[in-house]
Amino acid sequence: MEHTMLPAIGSVFPRGVFAALLLMLLFSFSTFTSIEAYDPLDPTGNITIKWDVISWTPDGYVAVVTMYNFQQYRHIQAPGWSLGWTWAKKEVIWNMMGAQTTEQGDCSKFKAGIPHCCKKDPTVVDLLPGTPYNQQIANCCKGGVLNSWGQDPSNAVSSFQISVGSAGTTNKTVKMPKNFTLKAPGPGYTCGPAKVVKPTVFITNDKRRTTQAMMTWNITCTYSQFLAQKAPSCCVSLSSFYNDTVVNCPTCTCGCRNKTEPGSCVDPNSPHLASVVSASGKTANTPLVQCTSHMCPIRVHWHVKLNYKEYWRVKITITNFNYRMNYSQWNLVVQHPNLDNITQLFSFNYKSLNPYEGLNDTSMLWGVKFYNDFLSSAGSLGNVQSEILLRKDKSTFTFDKGWAFPRRIYFNGDNCVMPPPDAYPWLPNASSKLVFSLLSTVIATLASLLILLNQS
Ligand SMILES: *[C@@H]1O[C@H](CO)[C@@H](O)[C@H](O)[C@H]1NC(C)=O
Ligand SMILES: *[C@@H]1O[C@H](CO)[C@@H](O)[C@H](O)[C@H]1NC(C)=O
Ligand SMILES: *[C@@H]1O[C@H](CO)[C@@H](O)[C@H](O)[C@H]1NC(C)=O
Ligand SMILES: *[C@@H]1O[C@H](CO)[C@@H](O)[C@H](O)[C@H]1NC(C)=O
Ligand SMILES: *[C@@H]1O[C@H](CO)[C@@H](O)[C@H](O)[C@H]1NC(C)=O
Ligand SMILES: *[C@@H]1O[C@H](CO)[C@@H](O)[C@H](O)[C@H]1NC(C)=O
Ligand SMILES: *[C@@H]1O[C@H](CO)[C@@H](O)[C@H](O)[C@H]1NC(C)=O
Ligand SMILES: *[C@@H]1O[C@H](CO)[C@@H](O)[C@H](O)[C@H]1NC(C)=O
Ligand SMILES: *[C@@H]1O[C@H](CO)[C@@H](O)[C@H](O)[C@H]1NC(C)=O
Repeated sequence: MEHTMLPAIGSVFPRGVFAALLLMLLFSFSTFTSIEAYDPLDPTGNITIKWDVISWTPDGYVAVVTMYNFQQYRHIQAPGWSLGWTWAKKEVIWNMMGAQTTEQGDCSKFKAGIPHCCKKDPTVVDLLPGTPYNQQIANCCKGGVLNSWGQDPSNAVSSFQISVGSAGTTNKTVKMPKNFTLKAPGPGYTCGPAKVVKPTVFITNDKRRTTQAMMTWNITCTYSQFLAQKAPSCCVSLSSFYNDTVVNCPTCTCGCRNKTEPGSCVDPNSPHLASVVSASGKTANTPLVQCTSHMCPIRVHWHVKLNYKEYWRVKITITNFNYRMNYSQWNLVVQHPNLDNITQLFSFNYKSLNPYEGLNDTSMLWGVKFYNDFLSSAGSLGNVQSEILLRKDKSTFTFDKGWAFPRRIYFNGDNCVMPPPDAYPWLPNASSKLVFSLLSTVIATLASLLILLNQS
């Protein structure tokens, strides 16, 4: 049936339509791959949950549950993670330290002590900073905020302690919880089954003795942008010193401005700006963006700023257009062939990512603590910027064909939509090219001289 259909389609549709259909198919395929289930720039990225049974009790056990965010750049920001699971039997939670369940559930059959939670499928959230010391354990109480391994490994771990009752009391009778769900806080993560692994070995504070968990289970959760089903939230704009054109973010990248519906975005020049923003504070999870043609909460601007003889210089500006969101510990992942040879980065931190052997064109940038690691909500303070000095590799370097622009940019792990390549700022055409190259050589020589003068 299908075999006979194909030529029929070919003869019914004119060739041009057929080609257009093919192109559409290819295009939809390529957009699909950009939201694929795993991230090619962080192929082993995962959040591992380790469940260490520390001791047995008369009716169950005490465990320390630790989450490690092994992802290079995807972090969990406020309002933080929540972790759920389904008990295998009729387990209850007697008490918790460093976290709490969101609901107690029906504990009516308990007469003496009342458990912390009797639900078959509890949901656990972190406690807030400032929790009394007697309810804390190490690595707890950060309001569910979990930084990434690449950016700040010392803050990429979150723990809580749990005492479980009505459970097995030996390593033969105890049952692992099932169906783990991790929300951050929305969807995106998928957790595998709990697996029995080698018991964790702990080192005592004086480092002279080791102890061992009775039993340890690991659960691995991975992120997929496809599951998160996020609409784009970030776009890229481009400019250069060699062409006056500023290539703005593609129109309607994150939504279309609807002039007949005034509440859809905020005019920054509106005299009632402050009251509009504060009046709408209730639905804080949906962005309230400044009116722009792209309507994105975040824009990353890449400006090719200067051309020296052996170096070139790029200025990166991140602008927050969302009135309802401060980004703490933001990060940017940038892919560009020349990033293998950054010589200097001003006012951002930088780390080269090498997801595969021989792939060295990707870097992660993030703010300097207490200086610009906080990207304020929309307004005059809602931007951060930095400049990068790159050393030219003579065999590949060119300003031609948009080479100087990035191949891919992520903000906080989310792909930023680039303008179409045919819209990139061009080099001036051939007749003016000679003048340009002469000019840029003169400028480069002058600049090198200036650098030399500066250094001496
Ligand atoms: C999770 O990440 C760690 C650290 O990168 C890695 O060693 C481990 O293999 C990963 N686990 C899985 C199941 O990918
Ligand atoms: C359970 O404990 C026994 C010793 O008490 C040990 O030999 C066995 O390997 C343990 N089983 C598991 C699954 O940890
Ligand atoms: C797993 O958890 C999800 C969400 O809590 C729930 O919808 C689903 O029914 C659960 N599956 C099983 C087998 O318990
Ligand atoms: C279990 O998780 C811990 C912590 O992430 C890790 O050190 C250990 O290697 C994992 N074990 C296995 C078998 O994956
Ligand atoms: C703009 O908003 C109006 C009123 O809510 C609606 O009827 C119209 O369909 C919207 N137009 C677009 C292009 O979204
Ligand atoms: C952003 O941070 C500023 C300063 O810390 C604070 O005043 C403001 O309320 C925050 N805005 C939001 C939307 O969280
Ligand atoms: C950067 O490029 C220069 C010149 O090509 C080279 O000498 C240097 O080793 C490179 N640095 C790195 C880290 O590859
Ligand atoms: C980066 O990778 C390319 C291609 O794999 C290689 O030719 C180049 O030498 C590498 N550069 C550095 C600095 O490792
Ligand atoms: C600058 O680039 C644009 C494409 O974005 C092109 O249309 C224009 O001709 C270029 N200007 C010059 C002076 O070459």
